[in-house]
Amino acid sequence: MFDYNPPQDLLKDKVIMITGASDGIGKACASSFADHGATVICLGRSQEKLEALYDEIEVRHAGKVIIHPLDFATAQPEDYKLLANSLNEQFPALDGLLHNAALLGARSPIEFYPEGEWETLMKVNVNSAFMLTRALLPALQNATSGRIVFTSSSVGRQGRAYWGAYAVSKFAVEGLMQTLADELATTSNIRVNSLNPGGTRTAMRQAAYPAEKPDSQPTAESLMPVYLYLFGPDGDTLHGKALDARNFDGN
Ligand SMILES: NC(=O)c1ccc[n+]([C@@H]2O[C@H](COP(=O)([O-])OP(=O)(O)OC[C@H]3O[C@@H](n4cnc5c(N)ncnc54)[C@H](OP(=O)(O)O)[C@@H]3O)[C@@H](O)[C@H]2O)c1
Repeated sequence: MFDYNPPQDLLKDKVIMITGASDGIGKACASSFADHGATVICLGRSQEKLEALYDEIEVRHAGKVIIHPLDFATAQPEDYKLLANSLNEQFPALDGLLHNAALLGARSPIEFYPEGEWETLMKVNVNSAFMLTRALLPALQNATSGRIVFTSSSVGRQGRAYWGAYAVSKFAVEGLMQTLADELATTSNIRVNSLNPGGTRTAMRQAAYPAEKPDSQPTAESLMPVYLYLFGPDGDTLHGKALDARNFDGN
């Protein structure tokens, strides 16, 4: 794993939004970013899980955590506008946006893939990243060095039988990352990349590989050096890259 020991104040004064912050990798990021000085805006589907996360972070870093429940499967354009507007009142500049929320969905041959599930998965894994990015770009432009990280997967870089909408959604995420990175390369200070965390000990991994021993995979916490690097000043040179946490070396 990437060897990186950043200072405790790495993200001091930074404001970072994390989607899917209520569980798994997103939750570990919210906690770690707050531990390194950031104010974290945590989005998730379950209000209850977000409230538990709030209590956990607030006790260590009072006033540094905001929670905002939003179900991407049912969210409407107004919800994204409302979120951006209310955020803007409190934080005119947004330093980071981590698109992490995702659904795994059915593993099924394309021939039999349920169409309703396909649509829901695209809404959660792809459309939400587009809608949030579009709504928050003005705030990201106001930051001195904004960061957007899209969360990919190995099946978003090489298709795999029966991974259906999940694999296709991750290809779309890579496409969104590349398109946006190209648009922003010379017109802004925002750095845009995608990251494949690789197999990680979370509920999603357990659902994808039910027969696997959970402790055969690294914890979400063990990935934090990579995420901290990407959102801190050292990640400033990376742009338009499809990165892998497992073999990340800072380039
Ligand atoms: N774990 C792995 O091995 C692995 C490997 C490669 C890529 N990834 C990617 O890494 C990211 C994080 O995965 P994870 O393993 O940490 O997953 P996880 O433990 O299942 O957590 C998923 C998060 O997404 C949120 N979410 C799900 N549906 C949502 C919806 N409709 N609206 C809003 N939020 C929703 C969940 O919210 P609730 O808690 O409220 O349901 C949760 O916070 C995903 O993009 C995944 O594709 C994971």
